[in-house]
Parts: sequence; structure tokens; C-alpha cells
Amino acid sequence: MSKYLHGHHASVLRSHSWRTAENSCPHLLPYLDNPSLKVLDVGCGPGTITVDLATRVPQGLVYAIDPSAEVIERARKHTAEKGVTNVRFEVGDIFEWQSLDGVEEAGFDVVHAHQVLQHLQDPLGAMKEMKRLVKPGGVLAVRDCNYMAMDWWPEHPGMHKWQDLYIKVAQGLGAYPNMGKMLHAVALQAGFPREDIEASIGTWTFSTPEERAFWCGMWADRTVQSDYKQKALDSGFAKEADLEDIAATWREMEKKEDGWFAVINGQVICHIR
Ligand SMILES: C[S@@+](CC[C@H](N)C(=O)[O-])C[C@H]1O[C@@H](n2cnc3c(N)ncnc32)[C@H](O)[C@@H]1O
Repeated sequence: MSKYLHGHHASVLRSHSWRTAENSCPHLLPYLDNPSLKVLDVGCGPGTITVDLATRVPQGLVYAIDPSAEVIERARKHTAEKGVTNVRFEVGDIFEWQSLDGVEEAGFDVVHAHQVLQHLQDPLGAMKEMKRLVKPGGVLAVRDCNYMAMDWWPEHPGMHKWQDLYIKVAQGLGAYPNMGKMLHAVALQAGFPREDIEASIGTWTFSTPEERAFWCGMWADRTVQSDYKQKALDSGFAKEADLEDIAATWREMEKKEDGWFAVINGQVICHIR
């Protein structure tokens, strides 16, 4: 089982594959103003954001790395299906950087990481690694959610059980489920001057029947089917019955006509001068 908390079960990939540049990196879009940019997507997962980024820099090149060979294969397939040719996916780890096509340090106009730092035991180390890969004049764009700030309607005690458990399991693995609110602080520690860091938030809302089916159904399945299940059991904070209850809560929330879910994502653009 990978160190990455969720693993790459179908229920997890369903959520990652919904992501586009528009719904997941609005903070970066204004900086993709030159069609020839060289971009690196770190922890690209199934690559739907990556491919979208590539269509915005048609004369440029987008490189993407992820330690999971399985998910890189899926990303390559998605790219072929979309007919996009200016993307190169490689199995890779940000902590073991290997030159891609001879692109060394300070070789990228844009380095991007979406929902990655929260899963690492050393987010500061990753921020420093990504910083050194950006060219002078380029940007580092990072976005992560904050589980503590997730919100919902209607009230349901089971949702607090879900939130508390998720945060405990992730923190127990040395990860940072509330990373979204501290990205600017990590960037400061990584050596970016405050004036070179733009901090903002971007949100996801799930409320229509289709959106609720997607979000609640994904969490119900993830809780009892993905790697998260085993990691939650191993943590000692939950038993099978607790996970079944949490999955049932998500199924109930899905059916509520007045159901509403909000995800707050912290985002930073860090400029390399
Ligand atoms: C939540 S997923 C995000 C995927 C994609 N960026 C997206 O938003 O759809 C986090 C990804 O980070 C990858 N990852 C974990 N550790 C990593 C590391 N050390 N270097 C690069 N990627 C890593 C995982 O394999 C996983 O695919």
C-alpha cells in the first residue's frame, strides 16, 4: 500500500478525474498567458488538470510526475484519448528529482502542485524542492484544501465524526489535513519574501442532486473501499462499524434535498525573482 493516504482506488480517482484547470487552479490561469511555457505538474494523479494545462500552452510543454506507476499509466491513457501531445508523464517523486529531458534546476516557467502538500510528511522540503525548479520570472502555484474548514448543511452528527476521524488519521500518518490555511506560511519558511507570495482561496460547492451524488457517493465509497479504510482501522481511531456508520451518513446526506457541501482550498502563487 502506498504512503499516500487515499491510494488510487476507483472511488478516489473518480474525484480526481473530475478536476479541471478551471475548477482546480483558477489562481494559476492568469499566469498561463504565454503559449510556449514549460510547466511541471507535481503529484499529477490521473492527469486531468495536467492535460487541461497543456491545452492552454499549445506551443509549450507540460511535464508531470507522480510516484504511482498505476496512476501515471491512467494519465497517459487520458492524454491519448484527448489527443493532447504536448504532455510528458513520468513516474517520479518530488524528493528524488531526476532531470526530465535535460531540464534541470530552474528549468520551468511554472511549477504546480494540487492537493499534494497536505499528504506529505515534509511539505516544507517539497516546497523548497519545487522552488528550486522554477526559472527566475516564473511562478510556483500550490493549492490544498483544509479539512477543518469543510462545511455542510444540514447539520448531522455523523459528519463531525467523519471530519474528526479523517483529521486524526491523516495527522497520525504525519500528514497535514489543514494545509490549505498554512501554504503561505510554508512558502515563507521556504524562503519566499512575503511580497512575492499571493495567498487566496478557491472553493468547491456540491449542492445539486448530481453534485451531491458525486461528492457524497465518492466519500461513502472511499470510507469503506479505498486505502483510507485500512489506514483508518490501523490508526486505532475507528473500527469497521464506525466506518460503516460514516459511509451511511454520507449516503443519507446525498439524499437530502437541501444538502450542501463547501470545500475551502487555500492557494498560493509564489514568484521567483
Ligand atoms: C490528492 S492526489 C492529487 C492528484 C492531482 N494533483 C489532482 O489534484 O487531481 C495527490 C497525489 O500526490 C502524489 N504524491 C504523493 N507523494 C508524492 C511525492 N513525494 N512526489 C510527488 N507526488 C506525490 C500521490 O501519488 C497522488 O497521486
